[in-house]
Amino acid sequence: MKRRTFVQNSLLAAAAAGVIPVTSFGRSNADKKARLAFIGVGLRGQNHLDNALRRNDTEVVAICDVDEGMLAMAQSVIKKSGKPMPLIFKGDPYAYRKLLEQKNIDGVIIATPWEWHCPMVIDSLQAGIKYVGTEVILGITMDDHWKVVHEAEKQHAHVSMLENVCYRRDVMAVMNMVRQGIFGELIHMQAGYQHDLREVKFNNGPNGAEGGVEFGEKAFSEAKWRTLHSVHRNGDLYPTHGIGPVAQMLDINRGNRFLSLSSFASKARGLHNYIVEHGGENHPNAKVAFKLGDVVTTHIKCVNGETILLQHDTDLPRPYSLGFRVQGTKGLWMDVNKSIYIEGKAAKPHTWDEAAAWLDKYDHPLWARWSKETANAGHGGMDFFVLHGFIEAIKRQVPTPLDVYDAAAWSAITPLSEQSIELGNATVDFPDFTSGQWMYRKNNFALTDEF
Ligand SMILES: NC(=O)c1ccc[n+]([C@@H]2O[C@H](COP(=O)([O-])OP(=O)(O)OC[C@H]3O[C@@H](n4cnc5c(N)ncnc54)[C@H](O)[C@@H]3O)[C@@H](O)[C@H]2O)c1
Repeated sequence: MKRRTFVQNSLLAAAAAGVIPVTSFGRSNADKKARLAFIGVGLRGQNHLDNALRRNDTEVVAICDVDEGMLAMAQSVIKKSGKPMPLIFKGDPYAYRKLLEQKNIDGVIIATPWEWHCPMVIDSLQAGIKYVGTEVILGITMDDHWKVVHEAEKQHAHVSMLENVCYRRDVMAVMNMVRQGIFGELIHMQAGYQHDLREVKFNNGPNGAEGGVEFGEKAFSEAKWRTLHSVHRNGDLYPTHGIGPVAQMLDINRGNRFLSLSSFASKARGLHNYIVEHGGENHPNAKVAFKLGDVVTTHIKCVNGETILLQHDTDLPRPYSLGFRVQGTKGLWMDVNKSIYIEGKAAKPHTWDEAAAWLDKYDHPLWARWSKETANAGHGGMDFFVLHGFIEAIKRQVPTPLDVYDAAAWSAITPLSEQSIELGNATVDFPDFTSGQWMYRKNNFALTDEF
């Protein structure tokens, strides 16, 4: 689709939905540089660092980590880029607070273990930083989520979750189709995080070799910290890759909102079986009781009447799939079978069309414009866009495309699902992090080909 047609269509869709027009985006500072600091330069932080260093409109001014090995890897990424070495903060878990005292930081990117996100976001805001991007999961408790929302409001600052799947190419094409009414009125959505993480939750110590069954202090990268969440918690621990795109299509916090949720957890077998198979039944970790059910299923009801089915499935053998299904009064998309069916438009009644032709036809203009830049950016290119949106917002001094209310509502699914399971699958209410503003706020996510 040509850019002009897309903007016209977006404006028509925007007018129909009461959405802010594109002219509301700032443009005057588009040529400025964004000065960035990174807290946490483990595997994900290095990926963002690499993407930031490839750009001509960023300066990396500081990095921080507690792990010398990860810092060395990050330094080699920087050396390879040919850009100047930034200040390095290290030595203790609160060294990042020294980083935050630097006066030349426009934006901070946080890519640390989940339990550090809330304190690091709050400290960044209190240090006066106006743009804070955090990797997925905003906080652990409901209170964490409220604290971040209140602090961002108090500091008039922008907190963005770096939820890259909102920018997946097929997801954006389907969002484009949703906005143009191709599926009719949306009725039901499905999504999730269905990813066999057994080789992520366990490895063989400091070099991360696969096949080991260590976790915690003896392990490398995510196995060091993420696996402990599977020991102690039972809920949808990673909802945002699935819910982020779905929430954008449903205008959550922008004319719609999540109302209530109930979750169910299956029994837990996958992680224990993996330890026994790879480490033997006498390995000390074979005694660990994992609380996380292998498949956690969550149902969400929205105020405008749609339902959402989310699945968290990370401990069993399976190919990767986020399991998207977008279903409206006229038809549906399912990503597992790569198919679309639109009544009256499908090649044959009651028969799937291959999705590819539809997805090409409705390719989002962001992808049409920037696909060259997405090469090698990570996760099929979507990692380029999530950083691009954050950086362009800094340069233009406008709100980030994904805001603090998105971050809070999506990430709060975790503590709410834990609560529901603890209460015997009770239905629990979502708080309204926007304090009623969802009725007036407009969806301006990705309305143009700019960012
Ligand atoms: N969006 C995605 O596709 C995607 C992919 C991978 C990871 N992630 C997310 O990114 C985050 C980081 O994951 P990762 O894979 O890089 O894990 P990792 O373990 O490789 O990296 C985390 C880093 O944080 C550092 N750290 C821990 N405590 C710290 C502290 N107090 N101060 C400074 N540094 C500290 C660790 O030493 C480590 O280097 C998580 O939230 C994870 O869920 C997202």
